[in-house]
Amino acid sequence: VVLVVDFGAQYAQLIARRVREARVYSEIVPSTMPVAEMLAKNPRAIILSGGPSSVYAEGAPSLDRALFEAGVPVFGMCYGFQLMATTLGGTVDDNGAREYGRTALAVSKSGSTLFEGTPAEQSVWMSHGDACSAAPEGFTVTASTDVVPVAAFENDEKKLYGVQYHPEVMHSTYGQQVLEHFLYRGAGIEPVWTTSNVVEEQIALIREQVGTKRAICGLSGGVDSAVAAALVQKAIGSQLTCVYVDHGLMRKGETEQVEKDFVAATGVQLKVVDAEKRFLDALAGVSDPEQKRKIIGREFIRVFEQAQAEIVAEAAGGEDVAFLVQGTLYPDVVESGGGTGTANIKSHHNVGGLPEDIEFQLVEPLRQLFKDEVRMVGQELGLPDEIVQRQPFPGPGLGIRIVGEVTKERLDLLREADAIAREELTAAGLDRDIWQCPVVLLADVRSVGVQGDGRTYGHPIVLRPVSSEDAMTADWSRLPYETLAKISTRITNEVAEVNRVVLDVTSKPPGTIEWE
Ligand code: XMP
Repeated sequence: VVLVVDFGAQYAQLIARRVREARVYSEIVPSTMPVAEMLAKNPRAIILSGGPSSVYAEGAPSLDRALFEAGVPVFGMCYGFQLMATTLGGTVDDNGAREYGRTALAVSKSGSTLFEGTPAEQSVWMSHGDACSAAPEGFTVTASTDVVPVAAFENDEKKLYGVQYHPEVMHSTYGQQVLEHFLYRGAGIEPVWTTSNVVEEQIALIREQVGTKRAICGLSGGVDSAVAAALVQKAIGSQLTCVYVDHGLMRKGETEQVEKDFVAATGVQLKVVDAEKRFLDALAGVSDPEQKRKIIGREFIRVFEQAQAEIVAEAAGGEDVAFLVQGTLYPDVVESGGGTGTANIKSHHNVGGLPEDIEFQLVEPLRQLFKDEVRMVGQELGLPDEIVQRQPFPGPGLGIRIVGEVTKERLDLLREADAIAREELTAAGLDRDIWQCPVVLLADVRSVGVQGDGRTYGHPIVLRPVSSEDAMTADWSRLPYETLAKISTRITNEVAEVNRVVLDVTSKPPGTIEWE
């Protein structure tokens, strides 16, 4: 394992992903972890991430010198680089040499482990106030910029390396190569980590954990629960039962996708609960978004618990049902361990996630994986593309894409409009360019239109295509006018009651991706 020490901000996750892209397994640890504990994990290398602080700021995270004396190769980036410099006796000062954004880096190539085979001048992404003016003893300076004399240093003998910039961001043109040079040449690690190893490893672990007992998995229709279920199915076969709660808020064709395609691809035992009426009754008369979310979450848990109880009752020796499978991903693990916690902007992001007071043990086979890796595992397990490449869809489904009260008629109308938008985006080959495209019905708004010779008084549909890396921030997608025109024409022609299609051109922040 390669440890990525997290000094705050969001850099560590990106670094961990880049290390895995280099086919080396990586994990994130907080900078507050004692060095002895880090070393106890037997890391093949340690990477120090960037962070928001100045090394001289009061309370700024620091590092025990022992980390550099353990014989483990270390690579410091940005804040990590400066910390390495000061800890080992170099000089870092606030000499006014600030650099933010794209910067030209001059590389002195002779004898550099990090930069070999990369151009003498390359574009890198900088973000720092302080700067290193003298490298610690024993280090060779291998790069500089117009304002920073020491922008990279290397000590091959001790296997310690550092760069002032952020090699993990894509604006650093040779960043991935430099990182790989550290891993392969500096630390001598072989690139052998792949998702097929993960599949084999997880299958063995699941078998060991579950033994001869039985497990239940809730399917939401999304990628994560589907891949988790497929993996567990592969490990324990008929000891697994999946539950799919059809709350009537899914998009067109999605329930069938789970019932038919997923079952066909995996052979899983599936219990489908048709709870449409129950959800619609509970939602009747409610138009406040938070209230809708709470109702959907509550009903979901109740329905799921009932299905669960039925499975336990049906199983010979009911106490055998001891495990619950969840599609928890690595970013969730990092974020829930990370501490600071983001403000509650919308309640419950995890319908399809389950009650808190369950008496089951959890099986979470995707805990080590990032989203793109989960997709690769899904592919490896033979799941259909429509499931593996599916764009994110909120647990509360179309219930939070109808602004106003949720009714069956409105859902049917929105399902049609959404299906048209999805069809045209796919036909235009745009699926991979956009993160997701919510289609929203403004059910309480009407506007005047004209169709044929008649006046209409119908509802608007909003298209909300966004591009994003992680849904934390997003920008509205610049879709081709032709595609937008086609979607608009088709929706207004084919969906009765809709006489206007509008485009949401708001980034996040300030707008969230969903409208509710
Ligand atoms: P917002 O609207 O907060 O959405 O910008 C960020 C991402 O989360 C999805 N989303 C949800 N996913 N349960 C989920 O599983 C939810 O309750 C939920 N609400 C929003 C949204 O589609 C976007 O990808």
